[in-house]
Amino acid sequence: MHPLRIFATVFAMIAGLWLLANSIMSLTSAPEVDVLSSSVPNPDEIARPRVPEEAQSLKNPMTASPEMIVEGREIYLGSGNCYVCHGNEAKGDGEAGALLNPKPSDLTDPTFQRVRKDGEIFWAIKNGVPTRGMFSYVPRMITEEQAWKVVVYIRSLRSV
Ligand code: HEC
Repeated sequence: MHPLRIFATVFAMIAGLWLLANSIMSLTSAPEVDVLSSSVPNPDEIARPRVPEEAQSLKNPMTASPEMIVEGREIYLGSGNCYVCHGNEAKGDGEAGALLNPKPSDLTDPTFQRVRKDGEIFWAIKNGVPTRGMFSYVPRMITEEQAWKVVVYIRSLRSV
């Protein structure tokens, strides 16, 4: 056989194997996920700030206590109406939130709890999260003081 023919045959075999390997890889590798519509939260997406940076320096005027956690939870489940979207246990699975995109935040999420300052949580409750489907709740439904109590309750959901 002519050396050029041997080369061409070997080349064709390698190219064939490469194509085969690629098609197997594309069958087994995970499909691209659309972050916003995915039910599996992307940690980077959760960490991305939702509110202006100035909110980080807002100080929580409340001193947390077991009674205040209970009170904050009552507001969350009561006049604040938060549970309809964020769910009874604040995991982002409330009935009214099911059809929203993006989904209401899982307020128990460890990344959320780690990166968010109290002031950012308060800001979101007070002003809403523009463009993300979370409305403003102060003063429409609760007072600033009640919003801080809800912040205290949300903080109590930190798992560690
Ligand atoms: C109409 C449904 C709905 C209701 C009711 C609602 N939220 Fe939200 N909330 C959302 C959505 C949607 C987002 C945006 C999620 C995102 O940006 O990924 C959000 C975001 C938030 C955030 C910001 C999360 C972050 O990543 O910084 C906080 C805090 C929050 N909600 C708390 C509350 C509290 C407390 C209440 C009650 C006073 C409440 N929400 C009521 C739908 C709702």
